[in-house]
Amino acid sequence: MSQSINLDAYWLPFTSNRAFKASPRMIVAAEDRYYIDDRGRRIFDGLSGLWTCGLGHGQAKISEAIAKQAQELDYSPAFNFAHPKAFALAERITEFMPAGLNHVFFGCSGSDAVDSALKIARAYWRKQGLASKTRLIGRIKGYHGVNFGGISVGGIVGNRALYGQGIEADHLPHTMTATNAFSKGQPTTGTELANELLNIIALHDASNIAAVIVEPMAGSAGVIPPPVGYLQRLREICTQHNILLIFDEVITAFGRVGANTGAAAFGVTPDMLTFAKQVTNGTQPMGGVVANDKIYDCFMENSGAEHMIELPHGYTYSGHPIACAAGLAALDILQNESMIERVKAAAPVFEEAWHGLKGLPFVTDIRNYGLAGGLTLQAREGDAVIRPFEVMKKCWEKGFYVRSGGDTVQLGLPFTITPQEIDALVNAIGESIQELH
Ligand SMILES: Cc1ncc(COP(=O)(O)O)c(C=O)c1O
Repeated sequence: MSQSINLDAYWLPFTSNRAFKASPRMIVAAEDRYYIDDRGRRIFDGLSGLWTCGLGHGQAKISEAIAKQAQELDYSPAFNFAHPKAFALAERITEFMPAGLNHVFFGCSGSDAVDSALKIARAYWRKQGLASKTRLIGRIKGYHGVNFGGISVGGIVGNRALYGQGIEADHLPHTMTATNAFSKGQPTTGTELANELLNIIALHDASNIAAVIVEPMAGSAGVIPPPVGYLQRLREICTQHNILLIFDEVITAFGRVGANTGAAAFGVTPDMLTFAKQVTNGTQPMGGVVANDKIYDCFMENSGAEHMIELPHGYTYSGHPIACAAGLAALDILQNESMIERVKAAAPVFEEAWHGLKGLPFVTDIRNYGLAGGLTLQAREGDAVIRPFEVMKKCWEKGFYVRSGGDTVQLGLPFTITPQEIDALVNAIGESIQELH
């Protein structure tokens, strides 16, 4: 089928376009945990889309809600007007959040959620008369989307190198150390790496720092769970120095880590939390920021007369009615079908199988948490990307979709995966690695 399609006009994102167009991987349908490609093959979805579709594809209640909403109210203006489902979804989302995170600001993606959170952080300090608190701290290997704020605090060099000056940001070290290699779940060493924040504070002074942003478990860099106690230490330092802590939970919120959020899984509450992806099970573009009462109240109390806009920020599609309808349906399924419990139950089975790949050629590290997994492969002649890329392509031919990102192979399993599917997927990856040179 792909032969009849003109491949020229579409410039694919985050894709080697020339390689893809030479040998396209075309997906034409999906059902539950499988894609169907243009050759009619069933392909297991080992990354749940892009960490989006944990509930599986083709959830009838979600598509019905989308269709109904499109008939009833297809769009309503987001500024100065609203529709009831935006309030309903905001409230529903807060039920999944740690106590105190009660106010949802909607956007359309993870990237804009991050930039919204960074802008809210800077504006928050300004509203308090502390306008010098502008500097933002991210982390090496962090991924916070592709907008200018996100790539500035982000720490994946390939996503930054081409784009010149960003916004002022510093970076904590990552926690993927040699001693942490092959840890199952959270590593037990590396907690002290959080103290690097003290050096950044010593360099700039907390009076110039707005916020620290980290993924509680780094995803796109290849699944890096936090060392035990690491996030607690970041929280402590931020509180002591009056710096906001933001968790980017675009991957971790709504089940992936076997809890409502990464914050809940690791027992640390940030001041703001970003979400996207799983909130609609990937069926509609949606993202947002959940802010705590202190931040929301500050805007409400320090913005002049009642008719004044407290936060001059937002998107045409903020709280889009169809996305809200999809989100309400998706969160109902997440809850009613005990999806988070299923993640928790499947996680140890996955951990056992995944770490079974230790010892295969070129495998230098394996990491996992919940239903997320990362595996690092040694570079070939200075090319760190080629081996994971080949594993991805070989797996596709074997009927499995996995992600290659930098020097890693990544998995984000459907929440309903069976032990047999875990075995088949991990075996296919193992065989693919053995075929590498
Ligand atoms: C932690 C994190 N933040 C932000 C983003 C960006 O999300 P989007 O691609 O929806 O803009 C991602 C996407 O993978 C992510 O993993």
